[in-house]
Amino acid sequence: MEKVGVLVVSYGARAAAMIDAFKRSANYDVRLYVADKQANPFNMEKAEKHVVIPDLNVEEICSFAKKHEAEIDFGIVGPEKPIIQGVRDKIEAETRIPMICPTREYAIEASKVAQRRLFEKFAPEVNPRFKIFDPKDYANTEEVRKELFEWLDELNNQVAVKPDVPAAGKGVGVWGDHFTTREQLFEHFMANFRHGAVIVEEKIEGEESSFQAFCDGKHLVPLPETRDYKRAFDGDKGPNTGGMGAYKDKGEKLPFMTHQDREKEIEIVNRIFRKWTGSTGNTALRGIPFYVAFIHTGKQPKILENNSRPGDPEIQAILPVLKEDFVDVCYRILDGNLTRIETEQQAAVVTYKVPPNYGGYMKAFPDRVSKAEIGTPVDLTEAYRLAEKYGTRLRVYPAAMEKRNGETYALKSRTVCTVGVGETIEEARRISIEGIRAIKGGALWYRTDIASKEHVAKSIRHMQVLRGSP
Ligand code: GLY
Repeated sequence: MEKVGVLVVSYGARAAAMIDAFKRSANYDVRLYVADKQANPFNMEKAEKHVVIPDLNVEEICSFAKKHEAEIDFGIVGPEKPIIQGVRDKIEAETRIPMICPTREYAIEASKVAQRRLFEKFAPEVNPRFKIFDPKDYANTEEVRKELFEWLDELNNQVAVKPDVPAAGKGVGVWGDHFTTREQLFEHFMANFRHGAVIVEEKIEGEESSFQAFCDGKHLVPLPETRDYKRAFDGDKGPNTGGMGAYKDKGEKLPFMTHQDREKEIEIVNRIFRKWTGSTGNTALRGIPFYVAFIHTGKQPKILENNSRPGDPEIQAILPVLKEDFVDVCYRILDGNLTRIETEQQAAVVTYKVPPNYGGYMKAFPDRVSKAEIGTPVDLTEAYRLAEKYGTRLRVYPAAMEKRNGETYALKSRTVCTVGVGETIEEARRISIEGIRAIKGGALWYRTDIASKEHVAKSIRHMQVLRGSP
Protein backbone atom coordinates (compact mmCIF):
# COMPACT_ATOMS: atom_id res chain seq x y z
CA MET A 1 0.00 0.00 0.00
CA GLU A 2 1.25 3.50 -0.80
CA LYS A 3 2.69 5.32 2.18
CA VAL A 4 1.59 8.88 2.85
CA GLY A 5 2.81 11.25 5.57
CA VAL A 6 0.38 13.87 6.84
CA LEU A 7 1.10 16.81 9.12
CA VAL A 8 -1.95 17.57 11.29
CA VAL A 9 -2.10 20.81 13.25
CA SER A 10 -4.47 19.92 16.02
CA TYR A 11 -6.66 21.40 18.68
CA GLY A 12 -9.51 19.39 20.09
CA ALA A 13 -11.81 16.68 18.85
CA ARG A 14 -11.99 18.23 15.38
CA ALA A 15 -8.42 17.05 14.73
CA ALA A 16 -9.11 13.66 16.34
CA ALA A 17 -11.93 13.25 13.78
CA MET A 18 -9.53 14.13 10.95
CA ILE A 19 -6.93 11.73 12.29
CA ASP A 20 -9.56 9.00 12.56
CA ALA A 21 -10.63 9.69 8.95
CA PHE A 22 -7.00 9.39 7.77
CA LYS A 23 -6.48 6.20 9.74
CA ARG A 24 -9.57 4.64 8.13
CA SER A 25 -7.97 5.05 4.70
CA ALA A 26 -8.33 1.87 2.67
CA ASN A 27 -5.99 3.07 -0.08
CA TYR A 28 -2.99 4.40 1.86
CA ASP A 29 -0.75 3.54 4.76
CA VAL A 30 -1.03 6.89 6.56
CA ARG A 31 1.72 8.14 8.88
CA LEU A 32 0.63 11.08 10.99
CA TYR A 33 2.83 13.90 12.27
CA VAL A 34 0.75 15.75 14.81
CA ALA A 35 1.50 19.21 16.18
CA ASP A 36 -0.96 19.32 19.06
CA LYS A 37 -2.10 21.86 21.61
CA GLN A 38 -2.07 19.18 24.27
CA ALA A 39 -1.13 15.58 24.99
CA ASN A 40 -4.37 14.30 23.42
CA PRO A 41 -4.41 10.55 24.14
CA PHE A 42 -6.16 9.61 20.89
CA ASN A 43 -3.79 11.61 18.71
CA MET A 44 -0.73 10.35 20.59
CA GLU A 45 -1.75 6.77 20.00
CA LYS A 46 -2.38 7.25 16.29
CA ALA A 47 0.62 9.46 15.50
CA GLU A 48 3.97 8.41 14.15
CA LYS A 49 5.36 11.56 15.78
CA HIS A 50 3.47 13.78 18.19
CA VAL A 51 4.58 17.10 19.63
CA VAL A 52 2.77 19.32 22.13
CA ILE A 53 2.90 23.04 21.30
CA PRO A 54 0.61 24.60 23.93
CA ASP A 55 0.19 27.96 22.17
CA LEU A 56 0.33 26.39 18.67
CA ASN A 57 2.82 29.02 17.59
CA VAL A 58 3.69 29.01 13.94
CA GLU A 59 7.48 28.98 14.45
CA GLU A 60 7.39 25.73 16.41
CA ILE A 61 4.86 24.10 14.10
CA CYS A 62 7.12 24.96 11.17
CA SER A 63 10.21 23.56 12.96
CA PHE A 64 8.34 20.29 13.54
CA ALA A 65 7.35 20.20 9.86
CA LYS A 66 10.94 20.84 8.79
CA LYS A 67 12.25 18.10 11.05
CA HIS A 68 9.98 15.55 9.34
CA GLU A 69 9.87 17.16 5.91
CA ALA A 70 11.20 14.07 4.15
CA GLU A 71 8.32 11.94 5.47
CA ILE A 72 5.45 14.45 5.10
CA ASP A 73 3.47 14.67 1.84
CA PHE A 74 1.01 17.39 2.90
CA GLY A 75 -0.41 19.14 5.95
CA ILE A 76 -3.88 20.05 7.18
CA VAL A 77 -4.88 22.53 9.89
CA GLY A 78 -7.89 22.47 12.24
CA PRO A 79 -7.73 25.47 14.60
CA GLU A 80 -8.02 29.12 13.58
CA LYS A 81 -5.11 30.66 15.46
CA PRO A 82 -2.25 29.22 13.38
CA ILE A 83 -4.24 29.82 10.17
CA ILE A 84 -4.72 33.48 11.08
CA GLN A 85 -1.04 33.71 12.00
CA GLY A 86 0.02 32.38 8.59
CA VAL A 87 1.01 28.77 9.25
CA ARG A 88 0.44 27.86 5.61
CA ASP A 89 2.43 30.81 4.28
CA LYS A 90 5.41 29.94 6.49
CA ILE A 91 5.46 26.18 5.95
CA GLU A 92 5.02 26.53 2.20
CA ALA A 93 7.76 29.17 2.04
CA GLU A 94 10.24 27.16 4.10
CA THR A 95 9.51 23.56 3.12
CA ARG A 96 8.12 21.70 0.10
CA ILE A 97 5.02 20.62 2.10
CA PRO A 98 1.73 21.84 0.58
CA MET A 99 -0.80 22.84 3.22
CA ILE A 100 -4.58 22.49 3.31
CA CYS A 101 -5.94 25.67 4.92
CA PRO A 102 -6.27 29.23 3.66
CA THR A 103 -3.31 31.57 3.63
CA ARG A 104 -3.12 34.39 6.15
CA GLU A 105 -4.62 36.86 3.66
CA TYR A 106 -7.74 34.74 3.21
CA ALA A 107 -8.28 33.85 6.86
CA ILE A 108 -11.17 36.27 7.06
CA GLU A 109 -12.30 35.05 10.43
CA ALA A 110 -9.42 37.16 11.77
CA SER A 111 -11.75 40.16 11.58
CA LYS A 112 -15.54 40.34 11.81
CA VAL A 113 -15.33 43.90 10.55
CA ALA A 114 -13.49 42.73 7.41
CA GLN A 115 -16.14 40.02 6.95
CA ARG A 116 -19.03 42.47 7.14
CA ARG A 117 -17.25 44.71 4.62
CA LEU A 118 -16.58 41.78 2.29
CA PHE A 119 -20.25 40.73 2.38
CA GLU A 120 -21.29 44.37 1.94
CA LYS A 121 -19.35 44.39 -1.31
CA PHE A 122 -20.35 41.01 -2.73
CA ALA A 123 -23.63 39.93 -1.09
CA PRO A 124 -24.99 42.90 0.89
CA GLU A 125 -28.33 41.21 1.53
CA VAL A 126 -26.73 38.72 3.98
CA ASN A 127 -25.66 41.47 6.37
CA PRO A 128 -27.96 42.64 9.12
CA ARG A 129 -27.93 46.39 9.79
CA PHE A 130 -24.62 47.00 11.53
CA LYS A 131 -22.38 49.72 12.90
CA ILE A 132 -18.67 49.50 13.62
CA PHE A 133 -17.36 51.14 16.77
CA ASP A 134 -13.59 51.56 16.45
CA PRO A 135 -11.69 52.91 19.52
CA LYS A 136 -9.59 55.13 17.28
CA ASP A 137 -12.70 57.08 16.24
CA TYR A 138 -13.65 58.19 19.77
CA ALA A 139 -11.95 60.66 22.11
CA ASN A 140 -13.49 59.25 25.30
CA THR A 141 -15.95 56.76 26.79
CA GLU A 142 -18.78 59.31 26.93
CA GLU A 143 -18.55 59.91 23.21
CA VAL A 144 -18.81 56.23 22.31
CA ARG A 145 -21.55 55.66 24.87
CA LYS A 146 -23.64 58.45 23.35
CA GLU A 147 -23.28 57.11 19.82
CA LEU A 148 -23.90 53.53 20.94
CA PHE A 149 -27.10 54.51 22.76
CA GLU A 150 -28.32 56.43 19.70
CA TRP A 151 -27.77 53.26 17.66
CA LEU A 152 -29.66 51.25 20.30
CA ASP A 153 -32.54 53.73 20.01
CA GLU A 154 -32.60 53.12 16.28
CA LEU A 155 -32.63 49.31 16.66
CA ASN A 156 -34.92 49.36 19.69
CA ASN A 157 -32.16 47.61 21.74
CA GLN A 158 -32.55 44.45 19.64
CA VAL A 159 -28.85 43.97 18.93
CA ALA A 160 -25.91 41.57 18.99
CA VAL A 161 -22.56 42.90 20.20
CA LYS A 162 -19.55 41.28 18.52
CA PRO A 163 -15.84 41.87 19.01
CA ASP A 164 -13.90 42.28 15.77
CA VAL A 165 -11.40 39.56 16.66
CA PRO A 166 -12.37 35.91 17.20
CA ALA A 167 -13.30 34.82 20.69
CA ALA A 168 -14.36 31.22 19.89
CA GLY A 169 -18.01 32.33 19.84
CA LYS A 170 -17.74 33.57 23.42
CA GLY A 171 -17.32 37.32 22.89
CA VAL A 172 -20.74 37.70 21.30
CA GLY A 173 -23.51 39.12 23.49
CA VAL A 174 -27.16 39.25 22.44
CA TRP A 175 -29.92 41.46 23.82
CA GLY A 176 -32.48 39.42 25.74
CA ASP A 177 -30.08 36.48 26.07
CA HIS A 178 -26.92 37.89 27.60
CA PHE A 179 -28.18 41.27 28.78
CA THR A 180 -31.53 42.91 29.37
CA THR A 181 -30.47 46.45 30.31
CA ARG A 182 -28.39 49.01 28.47
CA GLU A 183 -25.95 49.18 31.36
CA GLN A 184 -25.29 45.42 31.13
CA LEU A 185 -24.91 45.75 27.38
CA PHE A 186 -22.53 48.67 27.81
CA GLU A 187 -20.41 46.67 30.24
CA HIS A 188 -20.14 43.81 27.74
CA PHE A 189 -19.46 46.28 24.94
CA MET A 190 -16.67 48.02 26.89
CA ALA A 191 -15.03 44.71 27.90
CA ASN A 192 -14.47 44.14 24.18
CA PHE A 193 -14.04 47.77 23.04
CA ARG A 194 -11.03 48.16 25.35
CA HIS A 195 -9.24 45.61 23.13
CA GLY A 196 -10.39 46.80 19.70
CA ALA A 197 -13.29 47.43 17.35
CA VAL A 198 -16.78 46.14 18.16
CA ILE A 199 -19.70 45.58 15.81
CA VAL A 200 -23.19 46.26 17.08
CA GLU A 201 -25.68 44.76 14.70
CA GLU A 202 -29.38 44.09 14.42
CA LYS A 203 -30.40 40.92 16.29
CA ILE A 204 -31.78 38.45 13.80
CA GLU A 205 -34.54 36.06 14.72
CA GLY A 206 -34.36 32.67 13.07
CA GLU A 207 -32.88 29.19 13.05
CA GLU A 208 -29.17 28.65 12.59
CA SER A 209 -27.41 26.25 10.27
CA SER A 210 -23.71 25.71 9.70
CA PHE A 211 -22.57 25.59 6.09
CA GLN A 212 -19.11 24.18 5.37
CA ALA A 213 -17.40 23.66 2.04
CA PHE A 214 -14.08 22.14 1.03
CA CYS A 215 -12.25 24.15 -1.57
CA ASP A 216 -9.36 23.36 -3.92
CA GLY A 217 -9.06 26.99 -5.00
CA LYS A 218 -11.19 26.49 -8.13
CA HIS A 219 -14.17 24.52 -6.84
CA LEU A 220 -16.25 24.99 -3.74
CA VAL A 221 -17.76 21.66 -2.67
CA PRO A 222 -20.48 22.03 -0.03
CA LEU A 223 -20.69 19.48 2.77
CA PRO A 224 -24.01 18.50 4.31
CA GLU A 225 -25.57 21.07 6.57
CA THR A 226 -25.14 20.78 10.35
CA ARG A 227 -26.72 22.41 13.38
CA ASP A 228 -24.44 23.62 16.18
CA TYR A 229 -25.57 24.00 19.81
CA LYS A 230 -23.73 27.09 21.01
CA ARG A 231 -25.39 27.75 24.34
CA ALA A 232 -24.15 25.91 27.41
CA PHE A 233 -27.37 24.57 28.92
CA ASP A 234 -30.44 22.64 27.85
CA GLY A 235 -33.15 24.70 26.20
CA ASP A 236 -30.49 27.01 24.64
CA LYS A 237 -29.90 28.74 27.95
CA GLY A 238 -26.67 29.96 29.52
CA PRO A 239 -23.57 31.51 27.98
CA ASN A 240 -22.19 30.83 24.52
CA THR A 241 -19.60 28.07 24.32
CA GLY A 242 -17.41 26.64 21.58
CA GLY A 243 -20.38 24.32 20.81
CA MET A 244 -21.90 21.62 23.02
CA GLY A 245 -22.92 19.33 20.19
CA ALA A 246 -24.22 19.18 16.64
CA TYR A 247 -26.30 17.10 14.29
CA LYS A 248 -26.78 16.40 10.62
CA ASP A 249 -29.76 14.71 8.99
CA LYS A 250 -29.57 11.87 6.45
CA GLY A 251 -29.41 14.21 3.48
CA GLU A 252 -27.82 17.53 2.70
CA LYS A 253 -30.17 19.82 4.58
CA LEU A 254 -31.53 20.12 8.10
CA PRO A 255 -35.14 19.22 8.95
CA PHE A 256 -36.21 22.85 9.42
CA MET A 257 -34.71 23.97 6.09
CA THR A 258 -36.29 23.81 2.64
CA HIS A 259 -34.35 22.71 -0.44
CA GLN A 260 -34.57 26.34 -1.55
CA ASP A 261 -32.86 27.41 1.72
CA ARG A 262 -29.98 25.07 0.96
CA GLU A 263 -29.73 26.19 -2.67
CA LYS A 264 -29.81 29.82 -1.59
CA GLU A 265 -26.91 29.23 0.83
CA ILE A 266 -24.85 27.55 -1.89
CA GLU A 267 -25.62 30.36 -4.33
CA ILE A 268 -24.63 33.06 -1.80
CA VAL A 269 -21.34 31.45 -0.78
CA ASN A 270 -20.43 30.70 -4.39
CA ARG A 271 -21.15 34.30 -5.36
CA ILE A 272 -18.89 35.60 -2.58
CA PHE A 273 -16.18 33.08 -3.55
CA ARG A 274 -16.34 33.93 -7.27
CA LYS A 275 -16.44 37.68 -6.80
CA TRP A 276 -13.67 37.55 -4.22
CA THR A 277 -11.29 35.34 -6.17
CA GLY A 278 -12.26 36.06 -9.78
CA SER A 279 -13.36 33.50 -12.35
CA THR A 280 -10.13 31.46 -12.14
CA GLY A 281 -10.35 31.04 -8.35
CA ASN A 282 -7.36 31.16 -6.05
CA THR A 283 -5.48 28.27 -4.44
CA ALA A 284 -4.86 30.51 -1.40
CA LEU A 285 -8.38 29.48 -0.33
CA ARG A 286 -7.55 25.76 -0.18
CA GLY A 287 -9.18 23.98 2.77
CA ILE A 288 -12.47 25.07 4.35
CA PRO A 289 -12.42 28.82 3.66
CA PHE A 290 -16.17 29.04 4.21
CA TYR A 291 -17.67 27.67 7.38
CA VAL A 292 -20.60 30.00 7.49
CA ALA A 293 -23.09 30.43 10.32
CA PHE A 294 -26.32 31.19 8.46
CA ILE A 295 -29.53 32.24 10.16
CA HIS A 296 -32.80 31.47 8.41
CA THR A 297 -35.38 34.16 8.87
CA GLY A 298 -38.21 32.87 6.71
CA LYS A 299 -37.22 35.49 4.12
CA GLN A 300 -33.64 36.37 3.26
CA PRO A 301 -31.05 34.21 5.07
CA LYS A 302 -28.43 36.27 6.89
CA ILE A 303 -24.86 35.43 7.79
CA LEU A 304 -23.91 35.65 11.46
CA GLU A 305 -20.22 35.03 10.79
CA ASN A 306 -17.74 33.15 8.66
CA ASN A 307 -14.73 31.06 9.70
CA SER A 308 -11.91 29.89 7.46
CA ARG A 309 -11.54 26.44 9.04
CA PRO A 310 -13.71 23.43 9.85
CA GLY A 311 -16.27 23.89 12.62
CA ASP A 312 -15.97 22.08 15.92
CA PRO A 313 -18.23 20.14 16.58
CA GLU A 314 -19.74 20.46 13.08
CA ILE A 315 -16.98 18.65 11.15
CA GLN A 316 -17.14 15.70 13.56
CA ALA A 317 -20.71 15.10 12.32
CA ILE A 318 -19.45 14.82 8.74
CA LEU A 319 -16.04 13.14 8.60
CA PRO A 320 -17.35 9.83 10.01
CA VAL A 321 -19.87 9.61 7.14
CA LEU A 322 -17.50 10.48 4.30
CA LYS A 323 -17.98 7.86 1.60
CA GLU A 324 -14.57 8.57 0.18
CA ASP A 325 -11.04 8.02 1.32
CA PHE A 326 -10.05 11.22 3.17
CA VAL A 327 -6.51 11.03 1.76
CA ASP A 328 -7.94 11.02 -1.78
CA VAL A 329 -10.12 14.02 -0.88
CA CYS A 330 -6.98 15.85 0.32
CA TYR A 331 -5.03 14.95 -2.82
CA ARG A 332 -7.91 16.21 -4.97
CA ILE A 333 -7.88 19.47 -2.99
CA LEU A 334 -4.14 19.81 -3.64
CA ASP A 335 -4.45 18.85 -7.32
CA GLY A 336 -7.29 21.31 -7.93
CA ASN A 337 -9.78 18.68 -9.07
CA LEU A 338 -12.16 18.46 -6.15
CA THR A 339 -15.47 18.58 -7.95
CA ARG A 340 -17.60 16.57 -5.51
CA ILE A 341 -17.50 14.73 -2.20
CA GLU A 342 -19.79 11.79 -1.48
CA THR A 343 -21.19 11.24 2.00
CA GLU A 344 -23.29 8.36 3.35
CA GLN A 345 -27.04 8.93 3.56
CA GLN A 346 -26.86 8.76 7.36
CA ALA A 347 -27.71 11.06 10.24
CA ALA A 348 -25.02 11.90 12.79
CA VAL A 349 -25.17 13.43 16.26
CA VAL A 350 -22.21 14.83 18.19
CA THR A 351 -22.45 15.27 21.96
CA TYR A 352 -19.70 16.86 24.01
CA LYS A 353 -18.87 16.05 27.61
CA VAL A 354 -17.26 19.01 29.34
CA PRO A 355 -15.63 19.86 32.70
CA PRO A 356 -17.67 20.97 35.74
CA ASN A 357 -16.71 24.64 35.41
CA TYR A 358 -17.26 24.87 31.65
CA GLY A 359 -19.96 27.37 30.67
CA GLY A 360 -20.45 28.32 34.33
CA TYR A 361 -22.24 25.02 35.01
CA MET A 362 -21.00 24.49 38.55
CA LYS A 363 -22.11 27.98 39.56
CA ALA A 364 -25.51 27.61 37.90
CA PHE A 365 -26.17 24.04 39.11
CA PRO A 366 -23.92 23.35 42.14
CA ASP A 367 -26.02 20.39 43.26
CA ARG A 368 -25.59 18.55 39.99
CA VAL A 369 -21.80 18.28 40.27
CA SER A 370 -20.22 15.42 42.17
CA LYS A 371 -17.51 17.26 44.13
CA ALA A 372 -15.66 14.04 44.87
CA GLU A 373 -15.21 13.41 41.15
CA ILE A 374 -13.68 16.79 40.29
CA GLY A 375 -10.14 16.36 38.97
CA THR A 376 -10.32 12.57 38.85
CA PRO A 377 -9.10 10.80 35.69
CA VAL A 378 -11.49 10.49 32.77
CA ASP A 379 -11.93 6.85 31.83
CA LEU A 380 -12.79 6.17 28.19
CA THR A 381 -12.42 2.37 28.37
CA GLU A 382 -16.11 1.58 28.42
CA ALA A 383 -16.88 4.09 25.66
CA TYR A 384 -14.21 2.54 23.41
CA ARG A 385 -15.63 -0.91 24.15
CA LEU A 386 -19.06 0.31 23.06
CA ALA A 387 -17.51 1.86 19.94
CA GLU A 388 -16.13 -1.55 19.04
CA LYS A 389 -19.60 -3.03 19.41
CA TYR A 390 -21.14 -0.35 17.20
CA GLY A 391 -18.37 -0.46 14.59
CA THR A 392 -18.41 2.72 12.50
CA ARG A 393 -21.65 3.93 14.12
CA LEU A 394 -20.04 5.25 17.31
CA ARG A 395 -16.87 7.28 17.49
CA VAL A 396 -15.17 8.67 20.59
CA TYR A 397 -12.99 11.74 20.06
CA PRO A 398 -10.97 13.14 22.98
CA ALA A 399 -10.60 16.94 22.87
CA ALA A 400 -9.14 19.03 25.74
CA MET A 401 -7.71 16.01 27.53
CA GLU A 402 -4.19 15.13 28.39
CA LYS A 403 -2.33 11.99 29.16
CA ARG A 404 -0.43 12.24 32.45
CA ASN A 405 1.27 9.42 34.33
CA GLY A 406 -0.63 6.80 32.37
CA GLU A 407 -4.07 8.36 33.08
CA THR A 408 -6.17 10.80 31.03
CA TYR A 409 -7.42 14.03 32.57
CA ALA A 410 -9.83 16.75 31.50
CA LEU A 411 -8.38 20.22 30.91
CA LYS A 412 -10.47 23.40 30.98
CA SER A 413 -12.16 23.32 27.59
CA ARG A 414 -14.53 20.74 26.04
CA THR A 415 -13.24 17.31 27.07
CA VAL A 416 -14.46 14.61 24.73
CA CYS A 417 -17.22 14.08 22.20
CA THR A 418 -19.01 11.06 20.88
CA VAL A 419 -20.48 10.81 17.39
CA GLY A 420 -23.44 8.52 16.83
CA VAL A 421 -24.34 7.58 13.26
CA GLY A 422 -27.75 6.19 12.33
CA GLU A 423 -30.58 5.90 9.84
CA THR A 424 -32.40 8.69 11.66
CA ILE A 425 -31.40 11.61 13.89
CA GLU A 426 -33.06 9.79 16.79
CA GLU A 427 -31.02 6.65 16.28
CA ALA A 428 -27.78 8.63 15.90
CA ARG A 429 -28.61 10.55 19.09
CA ARG A 430 -29.32 7.40 21.06
CA ILE A 431 -25.91 5.97 20.10
CA SER A 432 -24.10 9.25 20.80
CA ILE A 433 -25.66 9.50 24.28
CA GLU A 434 -24.96 5.86 25.06
CA GLY A 435 -21.30 6.61 24.28
CA ILE A 436 -21.32 9.75 26.43
CA ARG A 437 -22.83 7.90 29.39
CA ALA A 438 -20.09 5.28 29.17
CA ILE A 439 -17.42 7.95 29.80
CA LYS A 440 -16.63 8.00 33.51
CA GLY A 441 -14.84 10.35 35.89
CA GLY A 442 -13.79 14.00 35.99
CA ALA A 443 -17.28 15.22 37.08
CA LEU A 444 -18.01 15.86 33.40
CA TRP A 445 -21.48 16.86 32.19
CA TYR A 446 -23.29 17.27 28.87
CA ARG A 447 -26.33 18.91 27.32
CA THR A 448 -29.14 16.38 27.22
CA ASP A 449 -31.18 17.98 24.43
CA ILE A 450 -28.72 17.91 21.52
CA ALA A 451 -30.74 16.83 18.46
CA SER A 452 -33.66 15.79 20.66
CA LYS A 453 -37.00 15.24 18.97
CA GLU A 454 -38.42 18.21 20.89
CA HIS A 455 -35.55 20.51 19.92
CA VAL A 456 -35.75 19.59 16.25
CA ALA A 457 -39.56 19.95 16.27
CA LYS A 458 -39.24 23.37 17.91
CA SER A 459 -36.91 24.53 15.11
CA ILE A 460 -39.37 23.27 12.49
CA ARG A 461 -42.29 25.05 14.19
CA HIS A 462 -40.26 28.23 14.55
CA MET A 463 -39.47 28.26 10.83
CA GLN A 464 -43.14 27.64 9.98
CA VAL A 465 -44.06 30.72 12.01
CA LEU A 466 -41.30 32.79 10.42
CA ARG A 467 -42.35 31.70 6.93
CA GLY A 468 -45.96 32.48 7.76
CA SER A 469 -46.96 28.96 6.80
CA PRO A 470 -50.00 27.32 8.50
N1 GLY B 1 -18.88 25.57 16.50
C1 GLY B 1 -18.22 26.80 16.68
C2 GLY B 1 -16.92 26.93 16.03
O1 GLY B 1 -16.32 25.99 15.53
O2 GLY B 1 -16.44 28.06 15.98
